[in-house]
Amino acid sequence: MNDLDWVPDGIDTNIPSVARTYDYLLGGAHNLAVDRAMGEQMLKVLPSARDLVRLNRAFLRRAVSFLVQQGVRQFLDIGSGIPTVGNVHEIVRALDPSCRVVYVDKDPVAVAHSRMILAGDDTTAAVQADIRQPEDVLGRPEVRGLLDFDQPVAVLMLLVVHFIRHDEDAPGMLARYRDRLSPGGYFVISHATADHRVHTMRKAADTLQESRSKDNLVYRSHEEVSELFTGFDLVEPGVTGFALWRPDGMGSISDRPDDNTQVWVGVGRKPAVGSR
Ligand SMILES: C[S@@+](CC[C@H](N)C(=O)[O-])C[C@H]1O[C@@H](n2cnc3c(N)ncnc32)[C@H](O)[C@@H]1O
Repeated sequence: MNDLDWVPDGIDTNIPSVARTYDYLLGGAHNLAVDRAMGEQMLKVLPSARDLVRLNRAFLRRAVSFLVQQGVRQFLDIGSGIPTVGNVHEIVRALDPSCRVVYVDKDPVAVAHSRMILAGDDTTAAVQADIRQPEDVLGRPEVRGLLDFDQPVAVLMLLVVHFIRHDEDAPGMLARYRDRLSPGGYFVISHATADHRVHTMRKAADTLQESRSKDNLVYRSHEEVSELFTGFDLVEPGVTGFALWRPDGMGSISDRPDDNTQVWVGVGRKPAVGSR
């Protein structure tokens, strides 16, 4: 296969993308030279970057498995990324084949590749849209057609809210998703932080900002990530380091304690009206 056969028309192959760089760090095949260079730069300033993305995927697996055990059958995965081993639809369907999943990403490669692997699957869809436009996301035909918001829906936002700048009001934006959920719906969030290793994390954000991708990586504190769950009851153990959220021993914890709390995560359940 030509190295670039899978690249959709209109992509500038000289500009790195967050989705493809993340794919490179995870060991995937949908990245370009420019993304690999960016990944290598990241590894120079943050040598544990590969472990961090792996720990994030392990948290994703544990969180969605937990939700299926709680009876959730509908998932809206925003900032879903390029499909890789352990996609949400594969994990949840293995537990209950009736689960429905809609993937949303702003990156054309992530969406094109998701659509390719989902071809012929009428209970899973992929949409190109921006998390910062909740009404647009929630109004897409694929979302309205596959997800019934009168029943519990889990909105997954892993390593994506930190691309929403402080002046864009992430809590207010996320509240618009929350307000569409029925009681028993969930938020699952993972979010990079500079509460630890301030200097290193600043260099990582600068690396991204100074690249031609120009993406802003906006760190939030434990308190700020907790605020994103306003209106939800946090599932135990609350907002915690990603590796410390219900670890199950399947590669979910790092030997280096600092790595285990480099990303804050939480799972929140929307309570019934009047139950608080
Ligand atoms: C670091 S990856 C995380 C992928 C996946 N959620 C995971 O945790 O494994 C971040 C993803 O968010 C997407 N993204 C960034 N900003 C976005 C936005 N404003 N709206 C939708 N997706 C966005 C990127 O394209 C990328 O695929």
